[in-house]
Amino acid sequence: MNKAITLALTGASGAPYALRLLQCLVQADYRVYLLASSAARVVLKTEQQQDWPGSPKALSAYLCHQYGAKEGQIIACGKEEWFSPVASGSAAPKQMVVCPCSMGTVSAIANGASDNLLERAADVVIKERGQLILVPRESPFSAIHLENMLKLARLGVTIMPAAPGFYHEPKSIEDLVDFMVARILDHLGVEHALTSRWGYANA
Ligand SMILES: Cc1cc2nc3c(=O)[nH]c(=O)nc-3n(C[C@H](O)[C@H](O)[C@H](O)COP(=O)(O)O)c2cc1C
Repeated sequence: MNKAITLALTGASGAPYALRLLQCLVQADYRVYLLASSAARVVLKTEQQQDWPGSPKALSAYLCHQYGAKEGQIIACGKEEWFSPVASGSAAPKQMVVCPCSMGTVSAIANGASDNLLERAADVVIKERGQLILVPRESPFSAIHLENMLKLARLGVTIMPAAPGFYHEPKSIEDLVDFMVARILDHLGVEHALTSRWGYANA
């Protein structure tokens, strides 16, 4: 485990993307610092019937077991855990994905709120000029949402909306989820075989 990444879940719809991404990152031998907002937990319950343990320690153990991760490979952090490595440019992973990303969190990040560990971690990645990927979901987008995303895109943040394509002829929800997760992994530079690539094979 010599690669580390921060994966943050917020309260937008799309929990299955986050869970599949977590699984792929564990399989790719990443150490994953995991942050989940209170609203993300509500969405997880609603969409995936998953009730995650409240304490970061219990959540880390639960997820390590769930995903067959090594001990210490998934490190869940509390929202006011200011001494977590992700809170400082001297220790934070250079890559972070917020998936799914609510419009509330888009706004907080765009405005540098840093009011909880998740927002602070994103702020750190931006200031350290690391790689921050947001996977927003809302429909329609308001001008507020679009302005916030434009501001972030201009700062070098990758805005990758949860908008799977249909040209690979998906047969299941899992296929649609994998389409998005494959694109995220591509941007992170993580090898995968989730989907075939665009080209003559699709013609
Ligand atoms: C089931 C459910 C689905 C939601 N879907 C979205 C969504 O797709 N996009 C969004 O921006 N907010 C959505 N919300 C609202 C956010 O969860 C809410 O604005 C929350 O304050 C976001 O907080 P967070 O950014 O700290 O996670 C949803 C809420 C629930 C309960």
